Amino acid sequence: MAKTIGFGILGGGIIAPFHAKAVRDSKGGKLVAVCDMARDRADKLAAEFKVKAYYSLDDMLKDPEIDVVNVALPNHLHRDAVLKCAAAGKHVLTEKPPAMTLKDTDEMVDACRKANVKFGCTVQCRVRKAVQAMRQAVQSGRFGKILHADTYMKWYRSTEYYQSDAWRMSRKSGAGVTVQHAFHYIDLLQYIVGPVRKVQARMTNIAHPSVQLEDTTLAFLDYECGAQGVVEASTALWPGTDIRIEINGTDGTAIMTGEKIAAWKFRDDRPEDAEIRNYGSGSQATGATGAADLGHADHAVVIQDMVDAINQNREVIIPVTSVRPTLEIVLAMYQSAARNQPVSLPVNDDDSVWDAKVG
Ligand SMILES: NC(=O)c1ccc[n+]([C@@H]2O[C@H](COP(=O)([O-])OP(=O)(O)OC[C@H]3O[C@@H](n4cnc5c(N)ncnc54)[C@H](O)[C@@H]3O)[C@@H](O)[C@H]2O)c1
Repeated sequence: MAKTIGFGILGGGIIAPFHAKAVRDSKGGKLVAVCDMARDRADKLAAEFKVKAYYSLDDMLKDPEIDVVNVALPNHLHRDAVLKCAAAGKHVLTEKPPAMTLKDTDEMVDACRKANVKFGCTVQCRVRKAVQAMRQAVQSGRFGKILHADTYMKWYRSTEYYQSDAWRMSRKSGAGVTVQHAFHYIDLLQYIVGPVRKVQARMTNIAHPSVQLEDTTLAFLDYECGAQGVVEASTALWPGTDIRIEINGTDGTAIMTGEKIAAWKFRDDRPEDAEIRNYGSGSQATGATGAADLGHADHAVVIQDMVDAINQNREVIIPVTSVRPTLEIVLAMYQSAARNQPVSLPVNDDDSVWDAKVG
């Protein structure tokens, strides 16, 4: 019989309630505790979901009811937490990006492998039906030769959002728009279209002069398949509109807006296309206008998968190993912007990028 899987959420900030609701809605998952070093945050969330509150990860890791830790800490703190969870034999679901360096990511993957625990990442947009349809169309060759694969993320975040916590004002902590917000959509591009071989990026701060990080990134991508693409990502563009992913090939075009299919046209029109054109109708919000302007349906799929993966003793649907290429593209973008030149992949870590001046 399937075992009930206990979850503990580490970090009780903006994204935590989305994890909590997703666990609550799962079949076979149970929220056991939340943990935040800010006691008021831990207490508030614990009261809301009627679970235990912890104020340190070390204490939460001693709880035998917890099988999985959802790491929802600021980006630069993921590594240490994941290593501790693995050492305690807990499965881990980390928020994106998995870490701030490739070296840390590899160390975390290695630690989880050795501890024989699952290690998933919530790049939850991958589970959208529209994304799955686009990926399948690429894999079955329906686009013909892919010519363009682009993302446009024209979002808005206020200056108060950035000033709400020290880590949100620090590039090294992972607060810039590229690694923090656009990560999801750069991830979708590499997930749908495949590896990227070269990037050229420009990063600017156009609307948040009181914080020293990029609120806007414009980048060109060259994919290994021969396609080219654009990443346009900003949190400066009030009021914020839904993201777009656009794929154009010699034989077809597909566009996703938010989570909805906005265009789906192939030379070989198929009967199932009519249904695919309705994917994402009645959409949940996807984060355009504010950090909590989200639904939890995509997180729910990732959480359910973790429950099932543990019970079925199989790999999770979004292992961190599959997200490493996204981090590498993102880091290549930072290097390109800092050096003002194109950067070919693979890249090594280069921490000096965080100190680069953003114009
Ligand atoms: N998947 C998504 O769509 C999505 C959306 C938003 C944020 N995120 C990710 O979620 C993570 C958290 O983001 P957020 O916006 O919720 O941040 P946040 O700052 O609102 O919350 C982080 C919390 O962690 C707590 N904390 C910090 N250090 C701690 C420690 N050592 N022990 C215990 N608690 C500690 C803080 O007190 C804070 O409450 C980030 O990795 C971010 O990229 C993902």
